[in-house]
Amino acid sequence: MLATIEQTVQPHIGSGKVADYIPALAAVDPNQFGMAVALKDGSVHCLGDAAKPFSIQSISKVFTLSMTLRLMGAELWKRVGREPSGSGFNSIVQLEYECGIPRNPLINAGAIVVTDHLVNDGDCDTMIDQLVARLRHLAQDEAIAIDDEVARSEAAAGARNRALANFMASYGNMTNPVEDTLSAYFRHCAIAMSCRQLARAALYLAFDGCDPVTGEQIITSSNCRRINAVMMTCGHYDNSGDFAFRIGLPGKSGVGGGILVIAPTFGAIAVWSPGLNDAGTSTVGSIALESLVEQTGWSVF
Ligand code: DON
Repeated sequence: MLATIEQTVQPHIGSGKVADYIPALAAVDPNQFGMAVALKDGSVHCLGDAAKPFSIQSISKVFTLSMTLRLMGAELWKRVGREPSGSGFNSIVQLEYECGIPRNPLINAGAIVVTDHLVNDGDCDTMIDQLVARLRHLAQDEAIAIDDEVARSEAAAGARNRALANFMASYGNMTNPVEDTLSAYFRHCAIAMSCRQLARAALYLAFDGCDPVTGEQIITSSNCRRINAVMMTCGHYDNSGDFAFRIGLPGKSGVGGGILVIAPTFGAIAVWSPGLNDAGTSTVGSIALESLVEQTGWSVF
């Protein structure tokens, strides 16, 4: 199966456009491709650059959402919706019509609210430390860290996210100082992980919130279902419909070129190739995932 995927993607490697609005990401070599498939027994099957860390960017939003629902429960849904936006990931237009309540937790505005909710005592350093520790625990790998250069680059080029956060603050939908929440948001987006680590860390989302190897219940099964539903409907912004049409699995893209996909009852898949389509989803990564679902029949449809 992985050999067929490798053959399928080969002619496309390097296609798409590397994100350039975060200067540190613009410098990444587009000719890279990695994939990892984590299964119920804990085995992780790898292809290409699967062990190479990359900037997980918006994929981190899945883990902050999961952590928020686990620690704080349903209160979050008073501050953020769960409808697809049909707009770009950093769009501001709906925020005014909808009084500072972002459409869903996976667009930038929604993820900033999730981070703000998680930093409920104003201590963003502790929140970030807990998130990184959690990811290390889930991936069973201590070699996961924040790429400080990417975090700094994103903070320096963060005018749009500052606009989103301040706009929501004007409607009373921020509880911490905007710059504190944004500093945590920029850092979680700048976490570097490999496909292997990501697929392993997300395995619990394929098994009703329970890590199938350790038996640890990470989140409730109902929250697990909800996270998967939000990934399916909102995980790729205005490209979510096309992604569901082509791949048919809950997924989350990041502008670093990673895509995390959950195949309920089968496993978790992470793929990485830096060139993106217009919505910020990896072009080659999507082709690889299409090949995977064609071969395995893994789809919720
Ligand atoms: O806030 C941003 O713009 C980035 N840290 C994350 C955006 C992103 O990854 C969009 N996903 N495809």
